[in-house]
Amino acid sequence: MNKITVLSVFGTRPEAIKMAPLVKHLASLPEFESLCCLTGQHREMLDSVMEIFRLKADYDLNIMQARQSLSSITSRTILGMDEVIDRARPDLILVHGDTSTTFAGALSAFYHQVPVGHVEAGLRTWDKYSPFPEEMNRTLVGDIAELHFCPTVNNLRNLEREAVAGEKFVTGNTVIDAMKTTVRSDFVFSVPELNRLDFSGRRVVALTCHRRENYGEPMRNIMEAVRELAASHPEIDVVYPVHLSPVVRECVFGILKDQPNVHLIDPIDVENMHNLMARCYFVMTDSGGLQEEAPALGKPVLVLRRETERPEAVKAGTVKLAGVRKEDVLALAEELLTDRAAYDAMAHAVNPYGDGRACERIARGILWHFGRSSERPADFNA
Ligand code: UD1
Ligand code: UDP
Repeated sequence: MNKITVLSVFGTRPEAIKMAPLVKHLASLPEFESLCCLTGQHREMLDSVMEIFRLKADYDLNIMQARQSLSSITSRTILGMDEVIDRARPDLILVHGDTSTTFAGALSAFYHQVPVGHVEAGLRTWDKYSPFPEEMNRTLVGDIAELHFCPTVNNLRNLEREAVAGEKFVTGNTVIDAMKTTVRSDFVFSVPELNRLDFSGRRVVALTCHRRENYGEPMRNIMEAVRELAASHPEIDVVYPVHLSPVVRECVFGILKDQPNVHLIDPIDVENMHNLMARCYFVMTDSGGLQEEAPALGKPVLVLRRETERPEAVKAGTVKLAGVRKEDVLALAEELLTDRAAYDAMAHAVNPYGDGRACERIARGILWHFGRSSERPADFNA
């Protein structure tokens, strides 16, 4: 019987972290030909993930430009995908999440009339400008896709509310699958700045911030809150692997570079990142991925945004929306440092986003869709 050719298309760091285990799982099954196309929307931050998961791209569009615009990412991807789809002749194209790569990859598939499977489907804030442009990307991909792999039941309900057509599965998030291989109690950091930290003697706060809707005043507010927090708590360390976007770096280094207990480092690979989170005291972030990973590690998270499409961990009590005003961010961080009961109430491990078997469910969902299995995978239930 012919193999099902699945072409996974991704281009940024978080997509790679969440798609790598799936590309590898599909490759391990005899029913599939698993191919992977990088758009190269990110470069160094993407290549680092490919190395950690020992994954080789079959195609690489290499589109990244410094200070790239949304139009440039989208148009360069669509143009590049024409030839890739003609050569690979996939039966299914998988895209992930909500980046410009995701949208452009799905649109290219549609232009070639190749069915699309959307991994991490159904996340919504219902505000088209926040997160920008991700909310619109994932909504449009929802309309294009024929297979929707929702991490949670709540994500499935969102698609039902929009009456989105196609086959829907609840699978858990593949990032929890990825963490099975990255988090290790005996892990030794390969980043000198992390090895210099005293995790047992001092409390370490892990910080990341990069979102486009936070550019400008919100990001300045957040960085000023962090500077004040660090200045008034010399007994803590703040570690911030700073995203390579020049817009982010100008803002962050401008405000935080002279604060001695704030450690601004280059992006770190995913193993170092996951193990940093496993050993830190709490997390401050506007990242989507960190909001999913930290709760699984029992670490409180302050979300540096006004809303979140990931309400599950907020409900479970391990994540709080801090917003983007300096005094709000400062107050919540201060509380976590000074109120042990408030800290303990947030610091418990929960797994609303998956049980580490998302890739298996997605593969079985595809087999079922193509009539190669008579059994629909049972939904993930947190
Ligand atoms: C993108 C996604 C966002 C996701 C984030 C993950 C879009 C519109 N945004 O945002 O949803 O949360 O990735 O990190 O798809 N750069 C480098 N090297 C790299 C990566 C980036 O130099 O390895 C620099 C480049 O100058 C690039 C800039 O960062 O132009 C911004 O990258 P871009 O992918 O456009 O936006 P992100 O903020 O990373
Ligand atoms: N991450 C990483 N190195 C870093 C910062 C983040 O490996 O220096 C990982 C993080 O653990 C998560 C993913 O990158 O798996 C999140 O990426 P990002 O925050 O850039 O994007 P988002 O999830 O917000 O789309």
